[in-house]
Amino acid sequence: MNILLLGSGGREHAIAWALAKSKRCDHLFVSPGNGGTEALATNLPDIDITDGQAVLSAARAHDIDMVVIGPEVPLVAGVADVVRDAGILVFGPDKQNAQLEGSKSYAKAFMHEHNLPTADGKTFTDEALAVQYVKDVGAPIVVKADGLAAGKGVVVAQTAQEAIDAVHNCFEGGFGNAGYRVVIEECLTGPECSLLAFVTGGKAFCMTTAQDHKRALDGDLGLNTGGMGVYSPVPIVRDDELASMQRIMADAAAATAKPPFEHDYRGVLYGGFMLTPKGPKLLEFNVRFGDPETQVILPRLKTDLVDVMEAVAKGRPEDINLEWENNWAVCVVLTSKGYPQKYQTGKVIHGLDKVGAMDNVIVFHAGTAHNAQGELVTDGGRVLDVVGLGATFDEARQLAYKACESIDFEGKTYRHDIGAKAAAGRQSWK
Ligand code: AMP
Ligand code: GLY
Repeated sequence: MNILLLGSGGREHAIAWALAKSKRCDHLFVSPGNGGTEALATNLPDIDITDGQAVLSAARAHDIDMVVIGPEVPLVAGVADVVRDAGILVFGPDKQNAQLEGSKSYAKAFMHEHNLPTADGKTFTDEALAVQYVKDVGAPIVVKADGLAAGKGVVVAQTAQEAIDAVHNCFEGGFGNAGYRVVIEECLTGPECSLLAFVTGGKAFCMTTAQDHKRALDGDLGLNTGGMGVYSPVPIVRDDELASMQRIMADAAAATAKPPFEHDYRGVLYGGFMLTPKGPKLLEFNVRFGDPETQVILPRLKTDLVDVMEAVAKGRPEDINLEWENNWAVCVVLTSKGYPQKYQTGKVIHGLDKVGAMDNVIVFHAGTAHNAQGELVTDGGRVLDVVGLGATFDEARQLAYKACESIDFEGKTYRHDIGAKAAAGRQSWK
């Protein structure tokens, strides 16, 4: 099977790595790809992956049997619809289903309609009414721009004024079209946990739990980032909480196979949960694999990913049977100094051969490229995702950190406490 994977992050390197392991993968293309996918696949750097016709032309030119869509932007733009309508298999939901990530108010209405536990809240298209609601309810309170905002559209406000400022920012165009509708909801407390599922034919096949670290600095301080580290499974999740999250994902999947959806959902549905004192509640849906969650989930998947993705793309839940390694994975993200704000690129990366010789360590590339001299250099804020695998959580953590020390580039920065809170137990969360 010839496969075209869209995207360029660490998530896509991890997907490419898992696809390339399969005997069923004849030729793998990644568009645009990065310095890591280049070693496993043919990168196609010049395609506009948010343009369905451009993706379809590339798929036809390379005799592609299945297109796998990594990021949310092409999904929300309807790239899956164009390619699927042309008779090519697609792993990734169509435009209508992708609204579950593309519009927070749509997702919220879906959660309420199908009794999926979530924060109480309201959607506003009128700025004055939104401000009045904040005044009535008081802080802490959460303000969310409706549309895609690259992870920056949510403000967890500790004071009413902060929430009112966030409402003004949304309506004044701070998030472009994403902000002219806002969701305002109650502030939940508890540890966060992600549960991703392969969804097809109205059925959910849950993966293993994962937990991201969004803040830039140790101790969960500093600015929000795309993710500084992650582990899987999440040791602090109780069995009853896991069962409840799995039930919620199954209910969500069943709902996607019924009207008003024209087509059943075929791809990954990502449930972002908060483990509240009243049980797990949904914070959000994403309509794709998480980044960096994928980097700790796929190395633990024993089942052939090509088989799974083909079954999803064909709408054949009966062909899916997921098997997982009985181990732990911890990923530490190496970033460029300054990320998530201004940072430099083009710094030569050393030490990957040494790390490549270590057992149970995998390095996925997030932002790398080759320079004119053919050297591997930094090419983004998040540069490398260093994954340690172990029989215990501590073993996996220690291995990931040992590997991080062996890699070098100017400005290398990373958090030193990935997994520390979980290792200390549930009481670490307020
Ligand atoms: P979202 O994009 O909806 O996942 O929101 C981004 C982040 O904001 C989440 O990962 C949480 O840390 C936080 N957040 C979102 N909704 C809430 C909520 N209702 N209560 C507390 N924190 C929230
Ligand atoms: N790691 C969070 C996300 O992929 O949205």
